[in-house]
Amino acid sequence: MNLVLALQADATAAPQANPTAVADAAAAVTSALPGTAQAAPAVLEHGAGASDWLSQASTFAPAVDDEFLLLAWFAIFLAIVIAGTFALLSWRGSRAQDGEAALPRSMISWAALSAFVLVAVFYVQGARLSADMQVAPRGALPIKVGLDEKGFQFTYPNGYVTAELHLPVDRAVRFAFQGASEPYTFAVPAFRLQVAVPLGARREAWVSPSAAGEYDLRSTAVAADPTRVLAATATVHAEGGFEKWYQDISGPPLDLPPLELGQRSYQMRGCTQCHSIDGTKVIGPSFQGFLAREHRMKDGSVVPPTDEYIKESLLDPQAKVVEGFEPVMPSFRGRLHELEIAGLAAYIKSLQ
Ligand code: HEC
Repeated sequence: MNLVLALQADATAAPQANPTAVADAAAAVTSALPGTAQAAPAVLEHGAGASDWLSQASTFAPAVDDEFLLLAWFAIFLAIVIAGTFALLSWRGSRAQDGEAALPRSMISWAALSAFVLVAVFYVQGARLSADMQVAPRGALPIKVGLDEKGFQFTYPNGYVTAELHLPVDRAVRFAFQGASEPYTFAVPAFRLQVAVPLGARREAWVSPSAAGEYDLRSTAVAADPTRVLAATATVHAEGGFEKWYQDISGPPLDLPPLELGQRSYQMRGCTQCHSIDGTKVIGPSFQGFLAREHRMKDGSVVPPTDEYIKESLLDPQAKVVEGFEPVMPSFRGRLHELEIAGLAAYIKSLQ
């Protein structure tokens, strides 16, 4: 009861962003269970309008909170009625000693009926919410969610993979959860979104973030170690911010001819900071004359200037470190499409 009361008090205080959305959003979530709401102080300090874990940052949130409120009031009402009845009975009982006054039978059936109604409302509402949660509106942005030992991988439609979640505000996003080597849960409490992904299974869910900010995202790997909690951040970009971010990570259009794709990639991906094409030594070796030059590594070996070598340099830059340079190149693993890697290789090899 304590939790329900606390929830109810705070939820009333939280601003209702758009009351009409409450009904239509009819959203989400298996998280309409006290256990999950309790699980986490969900929201980090720094989000705009996201100052406490009860901030409502998705169109689901008000619907879920409303259901909580309804149940909380109903539970309070029941408690008062039951307590009142007991008080009345014991008062009557203390006055009439002959025992004829007590009404335990009807009391019990009345309480059972109430409990049944409570469970039924919770069940039906919960089922409706979680069914709605699974059917994303058309045009929702698809994001694949995967999990391995290192944490989450979010794969965007352009193939870009991140460890942190980036989302647009006021736009539906559809998550496709990939099965992992262990069952896990995925929860963004500020969205009132929680999904359990069983071993080897896939799940879908969607959400429509309604307030920009940074929110806590957590996961429990259920089977292997119930105490292991993975944390990440869900950043909801303000209007226009997501498009900019997405543009940045998108790189050059993949349908360009390889050489041109490679050249654009070289410029867009920041290679220019460290690699010149005119022989100037910057932080890394120049790409000029890449094919003709000898590539001697720190360990003394000489590596042929193949596509494989270029690819390895991009994905695992520290595997082979060029003599005379520091191992400071960042890995581009998960950031470049195969076509872009091939384009870069073609471009680098073409430089005389
Ligand atoms: C922060 C600086 C930095 C950035 C950014 C960077 N590199 Fe590098 N790169 C290096 C350094 C330093 C080396 C040499 C040491 C090594 O092999 O790790 C290197 C080595 C390489 C090599 C092997 C060079 C040779 O002569 O054998 C290739 C190929 C390469 N980088 C490609 C790229 C591409 C393509 C990009 C952009 C997508 C890029 N690098 C971005 C620093 C950088």
